[in-house]
Amino acid sequence: MAVTSATDLAAPRSPHHQQRKPARRSNFELQSWLFMRISGMVLVFLVLGHLFIMLFLDGGVHKINFAFVAGRWASPFWQVWDLTMLWLAAIHGGNGLRTIINDYARRDGTRFWLKVLLTVSMVLTVVLGTYTLFTFNPNIGH
Ligand code: HEM
Repeated sequence: MAVTSATDLAAPRSPHHQQRKPARRSNFELQSWLFMRISGMVLVFLVLGHLFIMLFLDGGVHKINFAFVAGRWASPFWQVWDLTMLWLAAIHGGNGLRTIINDYARRDGTRFWLKVLLTVSMVLTVVLGTYTLFTFNPNIGH
């Protein structure tokens, strides 16, 4: 009988085909979607609080100088606040941009290099920011 369409072909009989298990689906995209929702909710609180303190209280932006930053980072509370905000904003923003790159980059090469650039900038931001927070020395120059 002549083969007229792909459905006319006999089912594959090789042992390899018969043993193959269904591919396990990864939950990565589901988890990263959930992460965007949860980190977004935490960021509302962290970012609005940050803007309120930095831009409204005590004379607004004019009060921000080295001494003000040194005073805040003397407290573990603000260190944890700023560290959490840094990590969440970087990972949330980076993961959001990953989605946008996946949606809009047409060529495989473009998509790949944009993600390399994104990863490098995320790692730099998180590593330099964390390093600054933990090694900040209020007595610099003394
Ligand atoms: C302030 C509170 C924030 C909330 C409540 C929030 C919430 C969200 C949510 C729920 C999504 C997922 C949308 C979806 O997949 O349907 C999202 C996406 C995104 N967020 Fe945020 N976010 C916040 C802050 C930020 C910040 C600080 C950045 C950047 C550093 C950022 C950058 C992005 C980007 C780039 C996307 C991807 C947009 C897209 O897929 O088209 N967001 N945000």
